[in-house]
Amino acid sequence: FSLKPYNTFGVDAQAKYFVEINNIEELKNALIFSKENTLPLLFLGGGSNILLTKDFDGLAIKLNLKGISEKDISENEILITAKAGENWHEFVMYCLSKNYGGLENLSLIPGNVGTSPMQNIGAYGTEIKDTFVNCLVLDLENLELRTFNLEECRFGYRDSIFKQEGKGRYIILEVTFTLTKKDHPIKTEYGAITSELKNLGIEHPSIQDVSTAVINIRQSKLPDPKVIGNAGSFFKNPTIPLAQFEELKKKFENIQGYPNGNMVKVPAGWLIEQCGWKGKQIGNVASHKLQSLVIINATGEATGKEIFDFSTEIINSVQEKFGIELEREVNII
Ligand code: EPU
Repeated sequence: FSLKPYNTFGVDAQAKYFVEINNIEELKNALIFSKENTLPLLFLGGGSNILLTKDFDGLAIKLNLKGISEKDISENEILITAKAGENWHEFVMYCLSKNYGGLENLSLIPGNVGTSPMQNIGAYGTEIKDTFVNCLVLDLENLELRTFNLEECRFGYRDSIFKQEGKGRYIILEVTFTLTKKDHPIKTEYGAITSELKNLGIEHPSIQDVSTAVINIRQSKLPDPKVIGNAGSFFKNPTIPLAQFEELKKKFENIQGYPNGNMVKVPAGWLIEQCGWKGKQIGNVASHKLQSLVIINATGEATGKEIFDFSTEIINSVQEKFGIELEREVNII
């Protein structure tokens, strides 16, 4: 069974078995089938953060749970719950259509609601942890349902318990957020938003305007996975000690960094571009010409192995030039 339509890189890897599930009962049945046949499991959400480097000799499960519900909690706040299989951007658009604020900066992020807590998706000054309340999961060890609250998720930059100790153990079924109904805390501090709103001639932006600005920025430099296979940022922005940053600054005076205590976060896109990778293509794979942090399946024919090898070359050259080790953000299967 080809997984090509189920990963945004458009890699044509095969799974031995594949099933789409629409409810918890179907999910449990699929899990029983995998146990009886000792099949390894692969869970697919939007497929926007995985790289399939080889065929999968097990059961791939596509989570299609759908539905959005809401519950008023105060004059200004609403709890909104979306099931794992809801497309993230459509969910954000739904919230904006009802004038619920809090997710507008996260417009146009690929993927589904169910995978958003995995890496605490974030962009343009917001992360989901800012509005996250809890998520309902199925524990694969005992097939019981359990809820993780904000603290238990241990969110960090592109990180959560679901990528650490909980990796492979919990299937996220639905996620609940608190959103605002009228007093929206508009977040426009991120430089690119400020300048885009200026371009649009908007002085007092609504949440819908912030969303429009984010959509414009993303469309202007990030490739649409429906057109060119990619998984967004391929690497995390590395964090290095301040002392190392100061040393690098002597040699590379244009190096950028965002200090955080005695550590500094350095934009991986800049490091990769300095190593000459921006827009560079080897075989079927390239670094995107407008954002070098994004690796693309340039011809549509790339294998996962080729993409992986390309990313290794980038890691090696950044290590050689700057002494910084880039970490992949995308899940390697
Ligand atoms: N830069 C370069 N060359 C490049 C790309 C970036 O010099 O090829 C420089 C830019 O000039 C800028 C800095 O790097 O000064 C930061 O660039 P940008 O604002 O585009 O953000 P980023 O750090 O590259 C992160 C997220 C994105 C998110 C944006 C906006 C990570 C790994 N990536 O990118 O997330 O959209 O900030 O908040 O943190 C994703 O996860 O898939 C993703 C796209």
